[in-house]
Amino acid sequence: MTKTINTWKYLQKTNYFENHRLFREFQIVNPKHVKELDIKDKRVVEIGCGYGRNSVYFAKHAKKLFVVDVNDHIINKTKKTLKRFNNVQYYTVDNYKEIPSRLDYVYSALVFQHISKEEMKEYIDFFYTKLKKKGKIVVQFNIGDSENIPVQAEPMIKVTEEFVNSLFVKFLKVEYIKDAGEKYIHVYAIATKE
Ligand SMILES: C[S@@+](CC[C@H](N)C(=O)[O-])C[C@H]1O[C@@H](n2cnc3c(N)ncnc32)[C@H](O)[C@@H]1O
Repeated sequence: MTKTINTWKYLQKTNYFENHRLFREFQIVNPKHVKELDIKDKRVVEIGCGYGRNSVYFAKHAKKLFVVDVNDHIINKTKKTLKRFNNVQYYTVDNYKEIPSRLDYVYSALVFQHISKEEMKEYIDFFYTKLKKKGKIVVQFNIGDSENIPVQAEPMIKVTEEFVNSLFVKFLKVEYIKDAGEKYIHVYAIATKE
């Protein structure tokens, strides 16, 4: 299976966000249901943090935030966005397995629609082992026949609900939020560990 990681490393080296018309138009995307998560004093991971526009909310409210993106080009921008916070640790795809255990939440939006199924599975399997009991993974997917995001050079990966269910078989339950109330944000899965 082809991984999408090298495409993304290249896109970040060539200033993906600065060149992207949608990222100039929309500045904040954390949807209402994310703001209802009980992250106060919790340990949170954000996969695919980009330059950190969503991460600010997590850094402000969580006890500890661990952010992951593809390389130092983008992580250095995330560090600038989050410079006022001292509860954030930064990782790339090359060392994210060093993120410590006892996690409460793993969050990812606008990322799993752009990475290979193999990488999706690697993340879910890995973070399953790092979550506390009753910990949750909250992740947005591009499922089914939803409207396509107008892309530039990003890989775009659609999945089925069956595929998403297969990622979460070890979990106690998985719920779906099918109308997150924003343009191009398709479906969030919220999976809870036993
Ligand atoms: C469309 S952007 C969304 C960024 C951020 N979530 C936001 O909403 O502002 C996708 C992000 O996922 C990152 N990404 C791509 N492949 C990744 C991977 N395998 N692991 C972690 N991040 C990845 C990209 O570098 C990029 O920052």
